[in-house]
Amino acid sequence: MARVPVKLVSWDEIVEWSRGLARKIEESSWIPDLVVAVSRGGFVPARLICDFMDINDLLAVQSQHWVEAALAAERAILKYPYIVDVKDKKILVVDDIVDTGDTLELAKTFIEREWKPSEVKTAALQWISSVAKFRPDYYYIEVKDWTWFQYPWTRLEDVSQFIMRIFREDDRVKGRSIDEAYLKDLFKEWFGVEPGQFGFYWSEALNRLVIKGFLTKEDGLYRCIKCGSR
Ligand code: ADE
Repeated sequence: MARVPVKLVSWDEIVEWSRGLARKIEESSWIPDLVVAVSRGGFVPARLICDFMDINDLLAVQSQHWVEAALAAERAILKYPYIVDVKDKKILVVDDIVDTGDTLELAKTFIEREWKPSEVKTAALQWISSVAKFRPDYYYIEVKDWTWFQYPWTRLEDVSQFIMRIFREDDRVKGRSIDEAYLKDLFKEWFGVEPGQFGFYWSEALNRLVIKGFLTKEDGLYRCIKCGSR
């Protein structure tokens, strides 16, 4: 069993899921005048929904997570809380996934309170029903067992973070230099997916981590500079 269950999501699946989500909305006979993407995860699904539902108007609000030191908990806030005149409009707020539910709920509440449109509904490609405290009005897939969905628009970011997680948290690696083959074995063990499935993103992520100064590469061995040693 992987320590962190990861499912690699393809671009084709994103198109299929967005189409399915658009269909569900249409079947409910509710047609929005305006779509609002929750940036950045909701961008691609929101744009595809506009295409499938023939909707012209697309805006975005950006959410950000703050780690509250005293509480050691993350809190979602809106980074640019701008106000627009959308009175009398029906708004669909779209995100990729509802995990804790914080983000989409925050966006909905903000839009209702500050923009005062005639109606706001929420949609996401996926809803993790076992952990979310917010249920979107529309979703395409209900997820029961928590999984990290590796969406195609965050491949480089995610692979880089997965690699750093191994260097920071795996006792077999802390303070040591390891070769790429061993790193690949650990990656498979941690996340349940073969690095080969990520194509060029794998080497791109390693290069980026070296360039950014998180890892060093000497004689083919990688070592973390900012991970502490034992
Ligand atoms: N963003 C927040 N939760 C996520 C998850 N479980 N998978 C992918 N992206 C996410």
